[in-house]
Amino acid sequence: MEKTFVICVASRANVILVLLALTIFQVVQGIGVNYGTIANNLPPPYQVAKFLLHSTIINKVRIFDANPEILHAFANTGIEITITIPNDQIPNITNLTLAQQWINTNVQPFIPSTNIIRILVGNEVLSTANKLLIINLVPAMQTLHTALVTASLDNLIKVSTPHSLGILSNSSPPSSGRFRQGYDIHVMKPMLRFLKDTNSPFMVNPYPFFACTSSNLDFALFRANSGVLDDNTKLLYTNMFDAQLDAVYSAMKFLGFEDVAIVIGETGWPSMGNSAQIGVNPKSASDYNGNLIRHVTSGVGTPLMPNQTFDTYIFALFDENLKLGPICERNFGLFWPNMTLVYDVSIMRNNVVVANNHSKVISGATCYPFVFHSYVIILYLLMESYKF
Ligand SMILES: *[C@@H]1O[C@H](CO)[C@@H](O)[C@H](O)[C@H]1NC(C)=O
Ligand SMILES: *[C@@H]1O[C@H](CO)[C@@H](O)[C@H](O)[C@H]1NC(C)=O
Ligand SMILES: *[C@@H]1O[C@H](CO)[C@@H](O)[C@H](O)[C@H]1NC(C)=O
Ligand SMILES: *[C@@H]1O[C@H](CO)[C@@H](O)[C@H](O)[C@H]1NC(C)=O
Repeated sequence: MEKTFVICVASRANVILVLLALTIFQVVQGIGVNYGTIANNLPPPYQVAKFLLHSTIINKVRIFDANPEILHAFANTGIEITITIPNDQIPNITNLTLAQQWINTNVQPFIPSTNIIRILVGNEVLSTANKLLIINLVPAMQTLHTALVTASLDNLIKVSTPHSLGILSNSSPPSSGRFRQGYDIHVMKPMLRFLKDTNSPFMVNPYPFFACTSSNLDFALFRANSGVLDDNTKLLYTNMFDAQLDAVYSAMKFLGFEDVAIVIGETGWPSMGNSAQIGVNPKSASDYNGNLIRHVTSGVGTPLMPNQTFDTYIFALFDENLKLGPICERNFGLFWPNMTLVYDVSIMRNNVVVANNHSKVISGATCYPFVFHSYVIILYLLMESYKF
Protein backbone atom coordinates (compact mmCIF):
# COMPACT_ATOMS: atom_id res chain seq x y z
CA MET A 1 0.00 0.00 0.00
CA GLU A 2 1.42 3.33 -0.98
CA LYS A 3 0.16 6.82 -0.56
CA THR A 4 1.24 10.19 -1.78
CA PHE A 5 2.31 12.18 1.24
CA VAL A 6 3.11 15.84 1.38
CA ILE A 7 5.55 16.45 4.18
CA CYS A 8 5.89 20.09 5.06
CA VAL A 9 9.23 20.96 6.50
CA ALA A 10 7.93 23.45 9.01
CA SER A 11 9.26 21.95 12.22
CA ARG A 12 12.54 20.46 13.32
CA ALA A 13 10.95 17.05 13.85
CA ASN A 14 9.95 16.88 10.25
CA VAL A 15 13.37 17.98 9.04
CA ILE A 16 14.87 15.11 11.01
CA LEU A 17 12.24 12.73 9.65
CA VAL A 18 13.02 13.67 6.08
CA LEU A 19 16.76 13.34 6.67
CA LEU A 20 16.20 9.93 8.23
CA ALA A 21 14.05 8.81 5.32
CA LEU A 22 16.72 10.00 2.92
CA THR A 23 19.41 7.99 4.69
CA ILE A 24 17.33 4.81 4.84
CA PHE A 25 15.98 5.04 1.33
CA GLN A 26 17.70 6.19 -1.79
CA VAL A 27 15.57 8.99 -3.22
CA VAL A 28 15.28 8.93 -6.98
CA GLN A 29 13.57 11.18 -9.46
CA GLY A 30 10.86 9.31 -11.31
CA ILE A 31 10.86 8.82 -15.05
CA GLY A 32 8.07 8.84 -17.64
CA VAL A 33 7.13 6.31 -20.31
CA ASN A 34 5.04 6.28 -23.45
CA TYR A 35 2.42 3.55 -23.10
CA GLY A 36 1.73 2.65 -26.72
CA THR A 37 -0.78 -0.09 -27.39
CA ILE A 38 -0.41 -1.09 -31.05
CA ALA A 39 -0.12 -4.76 -30.07
CA ASN A 40 -2.30 -7.81 -29.48
CA ASN A 41 -0.36 -9.35 -26.62
CA LEU A 42 -0.28 -6.68 -23.91
CA PRO A 43 -1.45 -7.25 -20.32
CA PRO A 44 -4.69 -5.57 -19.17
CA PRO A 45 -4.26 -1.90 -18.14
CA TYR A 46 -5.11 -2.50 -14.46
CA GLN A 47 -2.19 -4.96 -14.22
CA VAL A 48 0.08 -2.47 -15.96
CA ALA A 49 -0.92 0.35 -13.59
CA LYS A 50 -0.34 -1.84 -10.52
CA PHE A 51 3.00 -3.03 -11.87
CA LEU A 52 4.27 0.48 -12.67
CA LEU A 53 3.22 1.80 -9.27
CA HIS A 54 4.64 -0.97 -7.11
CA SER A 55 7.61 -2.31 -9.07
CA THR A 56 9.10 0.58 -11.05
CA ILE A 57 10.26 4.18 -10.62
CA ILE A 58 7.94 5.20 -13.49
CA ASN A 59 5.71 8.02 -12.20
CA LYS A 60 4.57 9.60 -15.46
CA VAL A 61 2.72 7.94 -18.34
CA ARG A 62 1.77 9.32 -21.71
CA ILE A 63 -0.86 7.59 -23.86
CA PHE A 64 -1.58 8.24 -27.53
CA ASP A 65 -5.33 8.56 -27.07
CA ALA A 66 -7.71 8.84 -24.12
CA ASN A 67 -8.46 5.12 -23.71
CA PRO A 68 -11.04 4.99 -20.87
CA GLU A 69 -9.87 1.55 -19.70
CA ILE A 70 -6.35 2.91 -19.19
CA LEU A 71 -7.61 6.09 -17.52
CA HIS A 72 -9.68 4.00 -15.09
CA ALA A 73 -6.74 1.68 -14.42
CA PHE A 74 -4.50 4.54 -13.27
CA ALA A 75 -7.08 5.92 -10.83
CA ASN A 76 -5.70 6.41 -7.30
CA THR A 77 -2.12 5.66 -8.34
CA GLY A 78 -0.95 9.29 -8.31
CA ILE A 79 0.92 8.56 -11.54
CA GLU A 80 0.84 11.64 -13.79
CA ILE A 81 -1.12 10.94 -16.97
CA THR A 82 -0.80 12.76 -20.27
CA ILE A 83 -3.50 12.05 -22.85
CA THR A 84 -3.61 12.79 -26.57
CA ILE A 85 -6.22 14.11 -28.99
CA PRO A 86 -5.62 12.26 -32.29
CA ASN A 87 -4.42 14.37 -35.24
CA ASP A 88 -7.61 13.93 -37.26
CA GLN A 89 -9.69 15.62 -34.57
CA ILE A 90 -7.63 18.83 -34.53
CA PRO A 91 -9.91 20.84 -36.89
CA ASN A 92 -12.94 19.95 -34.74
CA ILE A 93 -11.21 21.02 -31.52
CA THR A 94 -11.06 24.62 -32.84
CA ASN A 95 -14.81 24.63 -32.18
CA LEU A 96 -15.33 25.47 -28.49
CA THR A 97 -18.50 23.36 -28.23
CA LEU A 98 -16.67 20.32 -29.57
CA ALA A 99 -13.62 21.00 -27.37
CA GLN A 100 -15.91 21.17 -24.34
CA GLN A 101 -17.60 17.94 -25.43
CA TRP A 102 -14.20 16.29 -25.77
CA ILE A 103 -13.31 17.24 -22.19
CA ASN A 104 -16.72 16.17 -20.89
CA THR A 105 -16.29 12.75 -22.49
CA ASN A 106 -12.57 12.07 -22.07
CA VAL A 107 -11.49 13.96 -18.95
CA GLN A 108 -14.38 14.74 -16.58
CA PRO A 109 -15.36 11.10 -15.83
CA PHE A 110 -11.81 10.25 -14.68
CA ILE A 111 -10.74 13.20 -12.53
CA PRO A 112 -9.69 13.73 -9.84
CA SER A 113 -8.98 10.05 -9.11
CA THR A 114 -6.87 9.76 -12.26
CA ASN A 115 -4.10 12.35 -12.18
CA ILE A 116 -4.49 13.79 -15.69
CA ILE A 117 -1.93 16.61 -15.95
CA ARG A 118 -1.78 17.35 -19.65
CA ILE A 119 -3.63 17.03 -22.94
CA LEU A 120 -1.59 16.85 -26.13
CA VAL A 121 -3.24 18.24 -29.24
CA GLY A 122 -2.07 15.77 -31.87
CA ASN A 123 1.36 14.22 -32.27
CA GLU A 124 4.23 15.55 -34.43
CA VAL A 125 1.64 17.50 -36.44
CA LEU A 126 4.16 19.60 -38.41
CA SER A 127 5.81 16.44 -39.76
CA THR A 128 2.50 15.34 -41.30
CA ALA A 129 2.84 18.24 -43.81
CA ASN A 130 -0.98 18.30 -43.70
CA LYS A 131 -1.92 21.97 -44.15
CA LEU A 132 -5.40 21.60 -42.66
CA LEU A 133 -3.95 20.13 -39.46
CA ILE A 134 -1.05 22.58 -39.28
CA ILE A 135 -3.12 25.76 -39.67
CA ASN A 136 -5.59 24.50 -37.07
CA LEU A 137 -3.00 23.33 -34.52
CA VAL A 138 -2.50 26.50 -32.46
CA PRO A 139 -6.20 27.52 -32.68
CA ALA A 140 -7.13 24.02 -31.43
CA MET A 141 -4.68 24.34 -28.51
CA GLN A 142 -6.11 27.75 -27.64
CA THR A 143 -9.71 26.55 -27.85
CA LEU A 144 -8.98 23.46 -25.77
CA HIS A 145 -7.39 25.69 -23.13
CA THR A 146 -10.49 27.93 -23.18
CA ALA A 147 -12.63 24.83 -22.70
CA LEU A 148 -10.47 23.89 -19.69
CA VAL A 149 -10.89 27.42 -18.32
CA THR A 150 -14.68 27.17 -18.60
CA ALA A 151 -14.49 23.89 -16.65
CA SER A 152 -12.07 25.45 -14.09
CA LEU A 153 -9.48 22.81 -14.99
CA ASP A 154 -6.85 25.05 -16.57
CA ASN A 155 -4.69 25.12 -13.44
CA LEU A 156 -4.65 21.32 -13.18
CA ILE A 157 -4.43 20.34 -16.83
CA LYS A 158 -2.05 21.91 -19.33
CA VAL A 159 -2.22 21.85 -23.13
CA SER A 160 0.78 21.11 -25.34
CA THR A 161 1.80 19.19 -28.48
CA PRO A 162 4.96 17.14 -29.16
CA HIS A 163 7.28 17.91 -32.08
CA SER A 164 9.81 15.82 -33.96
CA LEU A 165 13.22 17.39 -34.55
CA GLY A 166 12.05 17.87 -38.13
CA ILE A 167 10.77 21.28 -36.95
CA LEU A 168 14.40 22.47 -37.09
CA SER A 169 15.99 23.59 -40.35
CA ASN A 170 19.37 23.74 -38.70
CA SER A 171 20.59 21.92 -35.62
CA SER A 172 24.37 21.85 -35.87
CA PRO A 173 26.17 23.35 -34.07
CA PRO A 174 23.50 23.49 -31.31
CA SER A 175 23.77 27.29 -30.90
CA SER A 176 22.63 27.73 -34.52
CA GLY A 177 19.39 25.78 -34.06
CA ARG A 178 16.47 27.42 -35.87
CA PHE A 179 12.87 26.50 -36.63
CA ARG A 180 11.96 25.92 -40.27
CA GLN A 181 11.21 29.11 -42.15
CA GLY A 182 7.50 29.72 -42.54
CA TYR A 183 6.64 27.57 -39.54
CA ASP A 184 8.85 29.74 -37.32
CA ILE A 185 6.67 32.86 -37.56
CA HIS A 186 3.30 31.35 -38.42
CA VAL A 187 3.18 28.36 -36.07
CA MET A 188 6.05 28.24 -33.58
CA LYS A 189 5.89 31.84 -32.44
CA PRO A 190 2.15 31.89 -31.63
CA MET A 191 2.49 28.41 -30.11
CA LEU A 192 5.36 29.46 -27.83
CA ARG A 193 3.41 32.60 -26.88
CA PHE A 194 0.44 30.38 -25.96
CA LEU A 195 2.63 27.95 -23.97
CA LYS A 196 4.30 30.80 -22.11
CA ASP A 197 0.97 32.52 -21.31
CA THR A 198 -0.54 29.27 -20.01
CA ASN A 199 2.60 28.11 -18.17
CA SER A 200 2.76 24.95 -20.31
CA PRO A 201 5.86 23.14 -21.60
CA PHE A 202 7.21 22.90 -25.14
CA MET A 203 7.45 19.21 -26.01
CA VAL A 204 10.05 17.63 -28.30
CA ASN A 205 10.87 14.07 -29.31
CA PRO A 206 14.68 13.87 -29.72
CA TYR A 207 15.94 10.52 -31.03
CA PRO A 208 19.74 10.31 -31.22
CA PHE A 209 19.06 6.79 -32.57
CA PHE A 210 17.79 8.20 -35.87
CA ALA A 211 20.87 10.43 -36.28
CA CYS A 212 23.42 7.84 -35.32
CA THR A 213 26.17 6.41 -37.55
CA SER A 214 29.04 4.01 -36.88
CA SER A 215 31.33 7.01 -36.21
CA ASN A 216 29.16 8.73 -33.57
CA LEU A 217 27.62 5.73 -31.79
CA ASP A 218 29.38 6.43 -28.46
CA PHE A 219 28.29 10.10 -28.65
CA ALA A 220 24.70 8.97 -29.27
CA LEU A 221 24.74 6.44 -26.39
CA PHE A 222 26.24 8.78 -23.73
CA ARG A 223 29.36 6.58 -23.68
CA ALA A 224 32.88 7.95 -23.20
CA ASN A 225 33.93 9.93 -26.29
CA SER A 226 35.98 13.00 -27.15
CA GLY A 227 32.90 15.20 -27.59
CA VAL A 228 31.94 17.81 -30.17
CA LEU A 229 32.80 21.48 -29.75
CA ASP A 230 30.31 24.21 -30.64
CA ASP A 231 32.64 26.80 -32.17
CA ASN A 232 30.20 29.67 -31.57
CA THR A 233 29.87 29.13 -27.85
CA LYS A 234 33.06 27.10 -27.17
CA LEU A 235 30.84 24.65 -25.28
CA LEU A 236 31.78 20.98 -25.47
CA TYR A 237 29.00 18.45 -26.12
CA THR A 238 29.65 14.97 -24.78
CA ASN A 239 26.38 13.44 -25.96
CA MET A 240 23.98 13.88 -28.87
CA PHE A 241 20.90 14.22 -26.66
CA ASP A 242 22.27 17.48 -25.17
CA ALA A 243 23.19 18.73 -28.64
CA GLN A 244 19.66 18.06 -29.92
CA LEU A 245 18.00 19.70 -26.90
CA ASP A 246 20.25 22.75 -27.12
CA ALA A 247 19.46 23.13 -30.82
CA VAL A 248 15.76 23.30 -29.85
CA TYR A 249 16.58 25.73 -27.04
CA SER A 250 18.53 27.97 -29.46
CA ALA A 251 15.58 28.01 -31.89
CA MET A 252 13.23 28.97 -29.05
CA LYS A 253 15.64 31.64 -27.83
CA PHE A 254 15.93 33.10 -31.35
CA LEU A 255 12.16 33.74 -31.20
CA GLY A 256 12.45 35.15 -27.66
CA PHE A 257 10.97 32.20 -25.75
CA GLU A 258 13.93 30.59 -24.01
CA ASP A 259 12.03 30.70 -20.72
CA VAL A 260 9.39 28.14 -21.80
CA ALA A 261 10.15 24.77 -20.14
CA ILE A 262 11.11 21.84 -22.38
CA VAL A 263 9.63 18.38 -21.79
CA ILE A 264 10.98 15.31 -23.62
CA GLY A 265 7.81 13.76 -25.07
CA GLU A 266 9.59 10.73 -26.51
CA THR A 267 13.07 9.33 -26.75
CA GLY A 268 14.35 5.80 -26.83
CA TRP A 269 16.46 3.11 -28.46
CA PRO A 270 15.34 -0.22 -29.98
CA SER A 271 16.77 -3.49 -28.70
CA MET A 272 16.36 -5.29 -32.02
CA GLY A 273 16.40 -4.33 -35.70
CA ASN A 274 17.63 -5.63 -39.00
CA SER A 275 21.23 -6.80 -38.88
CA ALA A 276 22.53 -3.95 -41.06
CA GLN A 277 21.50 -1.31 -38.52
CA ILE A 278 24.19 0.32 -36.40
CA GLY A 279 24.11 -0.27 -32.66
CA VAL A 280 20.75 -1.99 -32.48
CA ASN A 281 20.94 -4.55 -29.71
CA PRO A 282 19.89 -4.96 -26.07
CA LYS A 283 23.24 -3.60 -24.78
CA SER A 284 22.89 -0.33 -26.75
CA ALA A 285 19.27 0.08 -25.68
CA SER A 286 20.29 -0.55 -22.08
CA ASP A 287 23.16 1.98 -22.30
CA TYR A 288 21.01 4.65 -23.94
CA ASN A 289 18.01 4.41 -21.65
CA GLY A 290 20.05 3.82 -18.48
CA ASN A 291 22.39 6.75 -19.19
CA LEU A 292 19.41 8.88 -20.27
CA ILE A 293 17.59 8.31 -16.96
CA ARG A 294 20.70 9.20 -14.98
CA HIS A 295 21.38 12.25 -17.15
CA VAL A 296 17.93 13.88 -17.21
CA THR A 297 17.34 13.33 -13.49
CA SER A 298 20.85 14.31 -12.34
CA GLY A 299 20.25 18.06 -12.43
CA VAL A 300 23.36 18.63 -14.53
CA GLY A 301 21.22 19.91 -17.43
CA THR A 302 22.73 20.67 -20.85
CA PRO A 303 25.52 23.09 -21.81
CA LEU A 304 22.98 25.83 -22.69
CA MET A 305 20.50 24.83 -19.95
CA PRO A 306 22.75 24.04 -16.98
CA ASN A 307 21.52 22.76 -13.61
CA GLN A 308 18.12 21.52 -14.78
CA THR A 309 16.19 18.31 -14.80
CA PHE A 310 13.88 17.47 -17.69
CA ASP A 311 10.58 15.61 -17.48
CA THR A 312 11.29 12.75 -19.87
CA TYR A 313 9.05 10.08 -21.36
CA ILE A 314 10.91 7.04 -22.68
CA PHE A 315 9.56 5.38 -25.79
CA ALA A 316 8.26 2.89 -24.97
CA LEU A 317 6.81 0.87 -22.15
CA PHE A 318 6.21 -2.29 -24.24
CA ASP A 319 7.31 -3.68 -27.56
CA GLU A 320 4.39 -3.16 -29.93
CA ASN A 321 4.09 -6.20 -32.19
CA LEU A 322 1.53 -4.74 -34.60
CA LYS A 323 3.45 -1.58 -35.51
CA LEU A 324 4.29 -1.22 -39.19
CA GLY A 325 7.67 -0.35 -40.68
CA PRO A 326 11.15 -1.79 -40.09
CA ILE A 327 11.79 -4.38 -37.37
CA CYS A 328 13.18 -1.81 -34.92
CA GLU A 329 9.79 -0.02 -34.81
CA ARG A 330 8.32 -3.04 -32.98
CA ASN A 331 11.24 -3.29 -30.54
CA PHE A 332 11.50 -0.03 -28.60
CA GLY A 333 9.95 -1.54 -25.46
CA LEU A 334 11.47 -1.64 -21.98
CA PHE A 335 9.27 -4.59 -20.98
CA TRP A 336 7.98 -7.84 -22.48
CA PRO A 337 4.22 -8.37 -22.28
CA ASN A 338 4.85 -10.54 -19.18
CA MET A 339 6.30 -7.41 -17.53
CA THR A 340 9.88 -8.60 -17.28
CA LEU A 341 12.62 -6.29 -18.57
CA VAL A 342 13.74 -6.81 -22.17
CA TYR A 343 17.23 -5.80 -21.01
CA ASP A 344 18.64 -4.67 -17.72
CA VAL A 345 18.02 -0.98 -17.03
CA SER A 346 17.77 0.93 -13.75
CA ILE A 347 14.03 1.45 -13.75
CA MET A 348 12.92 -1.05 -11.10
CA ARG A 349 12.05 0.11 -7.60
CA ASN A 350 14.26 -1.35 -4.87
CA ASN A 351 13.41 0.38 -1.62
CA VAL A 352 13.69 3.74 -3.25
CA VAL A 353 11.57 6.77 -2.61
CA VAL A 354 10.37 8.30 -5.85
CA ALA A 355 10.35 12.07 -5.61
CA ASN A 356 7.85 14.07 -7.57
CA ASN A 357 9.55 16.69 -9.66
CA HIS A 358 8.11 19.81 -8.30
CA SER A 359 8.98 20.98 -4.82
CA LYS A 360 6.81 23.90 -3.95
CA VAL A 361 7.16 26.73 -1.49
CA ILE A 362 3.85 27.17 0.29
CA SER A 363 3.47 29.97 2.83
CA GLY A 364 7.09 29.87 3.89
CA ALA A 365 7.30 26.11 4.46
CA THR A 366 9.15 24.01 1.91
CA CYS A 367 6.98 21.06 0.93
CA TYR A 368 8.50 17.91 -0.46
CA PRO A 369 5.93 15.73 -2.15
CA PHE A 370 7.10 12.12 -1.99
CA VAL A 371 5.62 8.78 -2.76
CA PHE A 372 6.38 6.93 0.46
CA HIS A 373 6.37 3.24 1.20
CA SER A 374 4.04 2.27 3.96
CA TYR A 375 6.94 1.54 6.31
CA VAL A 376 8.06 5.14 6.06
CA ILE A 377 4.57 6.14 7.08
CA ILE A 378 4.79 3.79 10.05
CA LEU A 379 8.17 5.31 10.93
CA TYR A 380 6.56 8.73 10.80
CA LEU A 381 3.70 7.68 13.07
CA LEU A 382 6.16 6.13 15.53
CA MET A 383 8.20 9.31 15.64
CA GLU A 384 5.08 11.41 16.08
CA SER A 385 3.98 9.28 19.00
CA TYR A 386 7.37 9.83 20.67
CA LYS A 387 6.94 13.59 20.13
CA PHE A 388 10.27 13.49 18.38
C1 LIG B 1 -16.06 16.42 -36.07
O1 LIG B 1 -17.28 16.75 -35.44
C2 LIG B 1 -18.43 16.31 -36.11
C3 LIG B 1 -19.62 16.80 -35.30
O2 LIG B 1 -19.72 18.19 -35.35
C4 LIG B 1 -18.43 14.80 -36.24
O3 LIG B 1 -19.53 14.37 -36.99
C5 LIG B 1 -17.15 14.34 -36.89
O4 LIG B 1 -17.08 12.94 -36.90
C6 LIG B 1 -15.94 14.92 -36.16
N1 LIG B 1 -14.73 14.57 -36.87
C7 LIG B 1 -13.74 13.87 -36.32
C8 LIG B 1 -12.57 13.58 -37.19
O5 LIG B 1 -13.78 13.49 -35.16
C1 LIG C 1 -19.44 23.85 -33.49
O1 LIG C 1 -19.93 22.54 -33.39
C2 LIG C 1 -21.30 22.49 -33.09
C3 LIG C 1 -21.66 21.03 -32.80
O2 LIG C 1 -21.31 20.21 -33.91
C4 LIG C 1 -22.10 23.09 -34.22
O3 LIG C 1 -23.48 23.06 -33.91
C5 LIG C 1 -21.65 24.52 -34.43
O4 LIG C 1 -22.29 25.07 -35.57
C6 LIG C 1 -20.13 24.58 -34.60
N1 LIG C 1 -19.72 25.96 -34.60
C7 LIG C 1 -18.98 26.47 -35.56
C8 LIG C 1 -18.59 27.91 -35.40
O5 LIG C 1 -18.61 25.83 -36.53
C1 LIG D 1 25.22 25.47 -11.98
O1 LIG D 1 25.77 24.78 -10.88
C2 LIG D 1 27.18 24.97 -10.72
C3 LIG D 1 27.66 24.05 -9.62
O2 LIG D 1 26.80 24.09 -8.51
C4 LIG D 1 27.44 26.44 -10.44
O3 LIG D 1 28.82 26.65 -10.32
C5 LIG D 1 26.90 27.28 -11.60
O4 LIG D 1 27.05 28.65 -11.32
C6 LIG D 1 25.45 26.97 -11.86
N1 LIG D 1 25.05 27.63 -13.09
C7 LIG D 1 23.90 28.29 -13.20
C8 LIG D 1 23.64 28.92 -14.53
O5 LIG D 1 23.09 28.37 -12.29
C1 LIG E 1 8.83 -13.17 -20.42
O1 LIG E 1 8.75 -13.12 -21.83
C2 LIG E 1 10.00 -13.21 -22.48
C3 LIG E 1 9.76 -12.99 -23.98
O2 LIG E 1 8.73 -13.79 -24.44
C4 LIG E 1 10.65 -14.54 -22.17
O3 LIG E 1 11.90 -14.64 -22.81
C5 LIG E 1 10.83 -14.66 -20.67
O4 LIG E 1 11.34 -15.94 -20.36
C6 LIG E 1 9.49 -14.46 -19.96
N1 LIG E 1 9.75 -14.40 -18.51
C7 LIG E 1 8.97 -14.96 -17.61
C8 LIG E 1 9.36 -14.83 -16.18
O5 LIG E 1 7.95 -15.58 -17.94
